Amino acid sequence: DAKLMFIGEGPGEDEDVQGRPFVGKAGQLLTSLITKMGLRREDVYIGNIVKCRPPMNRDPEEDEINTCIQFIKRQVEIISPKAIISLGRISSQALTGIKMPIGRMRGHFYAFEDIPLMPTFHPSYLLRTGNPKDKWLVWEDVQKVLERLK
Ligand code: URA
Repeated sequence: DAKLMFIGEGPGEDEDVQGRPFVGKAGQLLTSLITKMGLRREDVYIGNIVKCRPPMNRDPEEDEINTCIQFIKRQVEIISPKAIISLGRISSQALTGIKMPIGRMRGHFYAFEDIPLMPTFHPSYLLRTGNPKDKWLVWEDVQKVLERLK
């Protein structure tokens, strides 16, 4: 019965070992974002587009995304959240079908299965660049979502 769903790209090494999404470094940053939003991790539902770890952490390929998309679609149907936050380019493009750079998509609402969807930067990207400005943009994006959830 989560009102908010986060959808990432696919499992990394830690997630592969534990069989749970976002439990590594990126997951820690995601958890701190969720906490700052005034929520707990157990209040939200976290999923991924692809369910197997792509070798060497490469981007999932089109056919892998097309094979897996049915699973997240079903997860969305079952959870039926009030809003979705897609993390990063792969997830945002896969869920909207729009092939735009994440820097242009973020901050604007789209829809997946008639549910409002907000693309934002992936926590791994934030960790990689360490750019405080991008963190603020994510903060702005999630504020818009919190406003919708009121
Ligand atoms: N990155 C993702 O996109 N998903 C995870 O579960 C972990 C890292």
